[in-house]
Amino acid sequence: MTHAETRDKFLKFFESRGHKIVPSSSLLPTDPSVLFTTAGMQQFKPYYTGEADPMKDFGSLNVASIQKCIRTSDIDEVGDESHLTFFEMLGNFSFGGPSTMLRTSYWKKEAIEYAHDFIVKEVGLKIDYVSVFAGENEVPADEESEKIWKSLNSNIGVRIMGRSDNFWGPTGDEGPCGPTTEIYVNGVEVWNLVFNQYYCLNGSTAKAVEPLKSPGIDTGMGLERLAMVMQKKNNIFETDLFEPIIKLAPLELDIRTKRIVADHARSISFLISDGVRPSNKDQGYVLRRLMRRVINYMSKSDQTLMHDIFAKIVEIYGQYYPKLNANEIIYEFDRERERFEKTLQQGLKELDIMDSVGAAEAFRLYESFGLPYEVVKEIAGKKATELTRESFDEEFKKHQAKSREGSKKKFGGHGLILDTGELKAGNEEELAKVTRLHTATHLLHASLRKVLGEEVHQAGSDITAERLRFDFTFPRKMTPEEIKQVEDMVNGAIKEDYTVTKKEMSYEEAIKSGALAFFKLKYPPTVNIFTIGGTEPAEVPFSRELCGGPHVTNTGAIGQLKITKEEAVSAGTRRIRATID
Ligand code: SER
Repeated sequence: MTHAETRDKFLKFFESRGHKIVPSSSLLPTDPSVLFTTAGMQQFKPYYTGEADPMKDFGSLNVASIQKCIRTSDIDEVGDESHLTFFEMLGNFSFGGPSTMLRTSYWKKEAIEYAHDFIVKEVGLKIDYVSVFAGENEVPADEESEKIWKSLNSNIGVRIMGRSDNFWGPTGDEGPCGPTTEIYVNGVEVWNLVFNQYYCLNGSTAKAVEPLKSPGIDTGMGLERLAMVMQKKNNIFETDLFEPIIKLAPLELDIRTKRIVADHARSISFLISDGVRPSNKDQGYVLRRLMRRVINYMSKSDQTLMHDIFAKIVEIYGQYYPKLNANEIIYEFDRERERFEKTLQQGLKELDIMDSVGAAEAFRLYESFGLPYEVVKEIAGKKATELTRESFDEEFKKHQAKSREGSKKKFGGHGLILDTGELKAGNEEELAKVTRLHTATHLLHASLRKVLGEEVHQAGSDITAERLRFDFTFPRKMTPEEIKQVEDMVNGAIKEDYTVTKKEMSYEEAIKSGALAFFKLKYPPTVNIFTIGGTEPAEVPFSRELCGGPHVTNTGAIGQLKITKEEAVSAGTRRIRATID
């Protein structure tokens, strides 16, 4: 069965059992505590915690999806038979716990039956064995799942496993978590069924913090692994998802390297189509690492083969992910290669004269010449026996902490310059730009409320030197007229050259003064209020917000604002992207 047929079968199976099919979300999650979407359940987190209503958003308590995911934790393992940085996850989800007279959500019995029926009856595979949770701390052993499996087929072996195998979550700093039952076919785990029952903080796995408001089912089955067992292949790279890509890799590369190139090329393609660009920070840094590793492996081969590989990836996936654009991917890849090649030569010379390469040296090569860890490790060979990924990461963190310290001093103790979560600036030039965009964000927030009404609240904000991105609550698409009105209002405020003033006060006082607070954040007892315009006591200011800064002192410094995009993030939340000249 081809991957296309497998996708279709999975979605039809669940659709015919009352599930609403939901499209994959972006690889860039709205949760700022995680870099990437790593699981199908991530976009559904609010439906387990009771923050969002699945009936309102999907018209159903049960949904299914095929989610694109990136996981970089196993990056050093890629090249073996099963590890990947990019994969797709088939999943069915239910919000609300066991069904009742009023609710059609489901729990363990149905979740296990569905999985069993799909694997055994629908696609004709044989289950080797399943695993269930042994119990730990306040979470009891999952005897219920064991009974359900036995009742379905008394021949299925049930293994009882501990928390490292059979307890899942949370993704990010906190979120839903719970015991799992997992299905093994031909010796590999193909399907993970999670019973989200608790709310956990990260690091407290199997130490549940509190019961979930809306317990539910979260299942995940890797498409690549499923394709492997269904297509009776020895490893994922022989499936129809990979074989056409591997075939295009240069013949002179060994099989491990071909696999790495194929895997990374998929991640690169999908990251670019979701808007990531190579840089030295966050998602951009991961993309750069993946790109430079591929460039390095391909350095002695015909580089245009990468163009064919990217075109093939778009051919395989384009119909499911229409945003994939081969020209865009190839353009970005080639640009990064040019940048890399320039510095690489210099870096290699430097490396050549080093006697030994430890973490500090490797980091210097990275920082000055852009040589990624993998490249240094490989080229330095025996000189770098001491160098490990951990020691390099440690060095990286040390450096980040140092530059944060440095910028704190320089910019009067805001301490928010390099990466505040909201603002991201790598150098002073970028800092000046994000500062202008930051004040522009306050003007935009205030203008949205003036044009659309007070139901508008900030739901997220992300500012880079290129653009601002502002998420806010609003139930529908904005009309072109409204967008124009908001844009004009912001530019009007810029023209007025309002003064931006900062005042320190207690949180209570600040809220009383009418300052807007981003409801999701936890504020310290003393906060800074930034007021734009209306500094005389009797005047109503244009904007007043709780904020850490930094801001320009006069709005005239911002320049001209242009709203480049208005789109939905999720039901009830809109996103605006804007740039300044
Ligand atoms: N969230 C679980 C996983 O990612 C099941 O979907 O494995």
